[in-house]
Amino acid sequence: MAKQHILVTGGAGYIGSHTCKVLAQAGLEPVVVDNLIFGHRDLVRWGAFEEGDLRDSAFLDRVFQTYQPVAVIHFAGYTYVGESVTDPAKFYANNVVAAMSLLDAMRRAGCAVFIFSSTCSVFGMPDQLPLSEKHPQAPISPYGQTKLVVEKMLADYERAYGIKHVVLRYFNAAGADPEGECGEDHDPETHLIPLALFTLMGRRNLLKIFGTDYPTEDGTAVRDYIHVMDLAEAHLLALRHLLEGGQSDAFNLGTGQGYSVRKIIQVAEAVTGLTMAVEEAPRREGDPPVLVSDSSHIFQDLGWKPRYSDIQSLVETAWRWHQNRHG
Ligand SMILES: NC(=O)c1ccc[n+]([C@@H]2O[C@H](COP(=O)([O-])OP(=O)(O)OC[C@H]3O[C@@H](n4cnc5c(N)ncnc54)[C@H](O)[C@@H]3O)[C@@H](O)[C@H]2O)c1
Repeated sequence: MAKQHILVTGGAGYIGSHTCKVLAQAGLEPVVVDNLIFGHRDLVRWGAFEEGDLRDSAFLDRVFQTYQPVAVIHFAGYTYVGESVTDPAKFYANNVVAAMSLLDAMRRAGCAVFIFSSTCSVFGMPDQLPLSEKHPQAPISPYGQTKLVVEKMLADYERAYGIKHVVLRYFNAAGADPEGECGEDHDPETHLIPLALFTLMGRRNLLKIFGTDYPTEDGTAVRDYIHVMDLAEAHLLALRHLLEGGQSDAFNLGTGQGYSVRKIIQVAEAVTGLTMAVEEAPRREGDPPVLVSDSSHIFQDLGWKPRYSDIQSLVETAWRWHQNRHG
């Protein structure tokens, strides 16, 4: 039997490339669509590559016609929260208009299964922890708003056009493929673990700690770090769920375990045997003290279980990747 094609937008990026590997290992045939604005050609190692922009309808029609994908996994978008505040138009254009262009191409092609990369930012400031799917959605950044708009759009598109969806709301993605075939390569980089590792490698002079007076154990902000391979695995489970006739749903996706900034620094130093200079800086506006997922819904309904997300493996796999990539 011919392999089933899965269209992966943003598949030349960080989470998309790992997901392509997991799809290929599961016997599926990824087709990457990416405009390479932030992606890397050399991270497309599994399946075909179609370079283009999601807002180009003719391009999308051609891709759908060529591969007849049975489903779409939509990673492509802009991700810098701070920039979304200063230039929201850019984010609405790429995160909302491009998603709509993609969904409309799916309607024309008769493709009716969609997995969406959402974020815990759709919840805004948590008033209950850990964050479950029932928490009110009140994003405080245009980035979070654009993701919420697409979540709402998906519900409407299902009612009217029958496109089924799974929304996965990631907490903090981290780590790299343990086999070293893909990893994180963002420019600019804003995530804590790679920034800490860059400091240890000497690519940066120091690591800034934003906020040391939070009501947490050591005063620094606590986040839920999930290994990118565990994230990728969740996409495969979500895909199978829909392809086997399951209902549309939304799942929060983290480990449920939080780590402070200081704890991450400590683990990074222990893993590498190196030390880094840090600078204590004031809190950043809009940064909640703690963000931790209640992932019981995805544990129970999709049978997802993190396999790589212990903090040691997260940092070790990232360290190996960055040393090879930039060392
Ligand atoms: N990294 C995280 O911790 C995190 C957390 C929550 C949610 N997310 C979401 O997950 C998704 C993937 O994140 P990532 O870290 O892998 O990002 P990434 O920047 O590494 O990958 C995104 C990819 O999309 C491509 N792209 C962007 N706009 C496009 C367009 N219009 N047409 C075609 N390709 C386009 C980029 O070139 C890039 O390769 C994003 O939607 C992000 O909002 C990420």
